[in-house]
Amino acid sequence: MKALGINFMQHRVIDIITAVVGAQFGDEGKGKIVDFLSENYDYVVRFNGGTNAGHTVVVNNEKFKFHLLPAGSLRVDHVILGNGMVIDPRSLLEEIEAIRKINRDLRITVSKKAHVVTDLHRLLDKAEEEKRGSMRIGTTFQGIGPAYEDKYARTGIRIEDLLNRQLIKEKLNIIIELKHDLIPDIDSSKLNELASSLLNMGKEIKEYMGDTESVLEDAYEQKRSILFEGANGTLLDIDYGMYPYVTSSNTMAGFLSCGSGFSFRKVENVIGVIKAYMSKVGGGPFPTEINGPEADRIRELGHEYGTTTGRPRRIGWLDIPLLKYSILLNDIDHLAITNVDTLGEMNEIKVCHDHEMIPNNANGKNNNNPDSGYKSFESWGKLEDVDKREILKEGFDAFPEELKIYLRYIENMTGRDIAIVSFGNNREYTVRKYDDLKI
Ligand code: IMP
Repeated sequence: MKALGINFMQHRVIDIITAVVGAQFGDEGKGKIVDFLSENYDYVVRFNGGTNAGHTVVVNNEKFKFHLLPAGSLRVDHVILGNGMVIDPRSLLEEIEAIRKINRDLRITVSKKAHVVTDLHRLLDKAEEEKRGSMRIGTTFQGIGPAYEDKYARTGIRIEDLLNRQLIKEKLNIIIELKHDLIPDIDSSKLNELASSLLNMGKEIKEYMGDTESVLEDAYEQKRSILFEGANGTLLDIDYGMYPYVTSSNTMAGFLSCGSGFSFRKVENVIGVIKAYMSKVGGGPFPTEINGPEADRIRELGHEYGTTTGRPRRIGWLDIPLLKYSILLNDIDHLAITNVDTLGEMNEIKVCHDHEMIPNNANGKNNNNPDSGYKSFESWGKLEDVDKREILKEGFDAFPEELKIYLRYIENMTGRDIAIVSFGNNREYTVRKYDDLKI
């Protein structure tokens, strides 16, 4: 394959089906990679999670934050919010209003079968966290867990229910019946108010409601290109993540079928997004976590504060054993790496290649002893604007030698190609390795 000179392809490549997932604890920079790739796609689909996710995309120095709409919403024709999601209708309407200012003609389909997050779920999220005591997860308080609890208890409100006042009231009553002790202050007048507001929002959302399985099948038949955008991160997966310090949905690529109704057999590429170091919000094991001045410096340079909650993120070195685990779970074909510019500003750079903790052995040993199981790398220094312009012109060849060594090490250790590198906040600071790579 030939190294790419110019990083953007000018046309949509027809007929590709790709999934992009986070291969770490979330916040890998998926939004940026999806925004970059979405130039080549017609449809972008979300299939899990809710407003616990957050993407920030910077275009011409302006920041756009999304929680429900896929990051690809800025420039594709059609976005889909799949049934695997839990959707807060108020946030959805706010985001739709915001996106209209940027991509006025964007078509939006919201699955009728997606579940609804209400104010009750947000209250329950707080109340449940308090009850967990020392086992608290550190959730985003967005009502995600309680909404999925109702889904699986088969008492959940679905998007299509928002058109039926009687059904909304009945379902809210059941939630209160079952969980009254956790939210004792909710009386019938508050429930009536909530039901009316849900109904009103339902009327506004009606025009977007649809069956994502048939919309996607039509898109496929018409050979349109489709990008699936995973939310959160693999290590937060409800089954394979570091349970119980996980989110309440499946975050792996394989879940895209259950969460959107599109067959997994048609997906051609899986791209795993990693950050050049790691971050995590909330509790639970973090084998390569670092504390002190080094962590503080990465946090400040990389603006490592939660998009949804503003919480400072925990920081750690890149973790090869966990990355291999994510590659296995998602069957990742290619890696995309973000924030190499941030990491380059550190005097010393480390990667952990050895520890005993993988999520199904969460009681194994952390490795935050940087003297063992770590490899050190020479810093590639700050990438100045002139360096960045050179990289945009010349592609991977223009990377500093130290960065090439670091990237090659990851490739050798994982057996996967790093096909995309992002090296700055702005959308344009992303390059592909090959021009003939169909992604
Ligand atoms: P929940 O998804 O709000 O229930 O939070 C459960 C755990 O997942 C907490 O540790 C959150 O901080 C974490 N989490 C959920 N979504 C994201 C995300 O998009 N990025 C990073 N962490 C997340």
